[in-house]
Amino acid sequence: MMNGFTAVPVAKDVFWVGAIDLNVRNFHGYSTDRGTTYNAYLILAEKPTLIDTVKAPFLREMLNRIASVINPDRIEYVISNHSEMDHSGCLPQVMDLVKPDKVFASVMGRKTLAAHFPFMSSVTAVRDGDRISLGDREVSFMETRMLHWPDSMFSYLPAERILFSHDAFGMHLASMERFADEFDTVVLSYEAKKYFANILLPYSNLVTALLGRVKEAGMEFSIIAPDHGPVWRTESDIRRILGLWETWAHQKPSCKAVVTYDTMWGSTDLMARAVADGLASGGITVEVLPLRAFSRSDVATALLGAGALIVGSPTLNNGIFPTVADVLAYLKGLRPKNFIGAAFGSYGWSGEAVGLIERILGEMDAKPAGDRMRLQYVPDAEGCAKCGEFGEMLAKKISELCGRAPSEGGNE
Ligand code: FEO
Repeated sequence: MMNGFTAVPVAKDVFWVGAIDLNVRNFHGYSTDRGTTYNAYLILAEKPTLIDTVKAPFLREMLNRIASVINPDRIEYVISNHSEMDHSGCLPQVMDLVKPDKVFASVMGRKTLAAHFPFMSSVTAVRDGDRISLGDREVSFMETRMLHWPDSMFSYLPAERILFSHDAFGMHLASMERFADEFDTVVLSYEAKKYFANILLPYSNLVTALLGRVKEAGMEFSIIAPDHGPVWRTESDIRRILGLWETWAHQKPSCKAVVTYDTMWGSTDLMARAVADGLASGGITVEVLPLRAFSRSDVATALLGAGALIVGSPTLNNGIFPTVADVLAYLKGLRPKNFIGAAFGSYGWSGEAVGLIERILGEMDAKPAGDRMRLQYVPDAEGCAKCGEFGEMLAKKISELCGRAPSEGGNE
């Protein structure tokens, strides 16, 4: 049936029936520069089953994709792996139109769905390790609580080794391609890292535990089908994304520094560039992210696995410049680990910003830099030289943290 949107086969009797959001650029504060997809999956079993739905405005797209293979009112089961509204937003309409026999969710999912949609009291709760029959095949469930919501759970087709992983192993990446092996790996790695850094980072310990549970259970995957971005279907891609998640969750500090800042009249910008120069001279890889050009989520991405966060702000009305305060509040919530924190900035007369930044870095459990860099008004040649020396001093500390002698130099 031609209806403008077509289901994409993922495996025998398993179809992608999601939606492509080319326009979204701000996903609750996360800059989605490449848009996103909301992935839903249809299993054409004896009891046709829909796994997750899509964000509310995309209902028609999902229904039309389903209709390209079966009449949507034939769906008997809906499984909700995750209650966040980008996956449950059109669930009420689906229930109204399709009238499934049952909706399954985790115990917490049942509660969160009821909190979002008060009439959804008929959800059947499934527990970790439960299995349900779809007639000619089974689905098993694994709770993944707090990855990244209390309700999150995996659904798994053991016979086909297909994992429906909700947000896990996903990324915000809109395109007409559906499979990871159809993308440039640089883009995939960057967007997957950005997703981990901005969504999963606070739960890194739980990610490590989950990957351990998956290994212990002997779960193997022929396909990993997340709720955003491409489906992983080759052995090498699956191994790679699992390995990347394992690495990112450990947050082992690398010999890299992130310098982020904003400026009023260019003085803190000049200081930032001199500090970055000193870091680079000391053999440290430096990522410089002025907040007029980069978003808070770019900074979070850069910080994942970095050995230092170096934050610059002018003093405005006795405080931190607003964009810098914003990025610090955001990063603090993401609870990054294992990094040195340092502050710098130009000031006119009172100069509180550097101390306030240091206090927030302390609250983030950043390792103290042992020094700071404040200059009044416009840095002269001597001021720039001091900033360069500050960068070199930080380079030595970062080298100690990342386990490399400063004399080894080189970037990584
Ligand atoms: Fe894609 Fe946590 O929602």
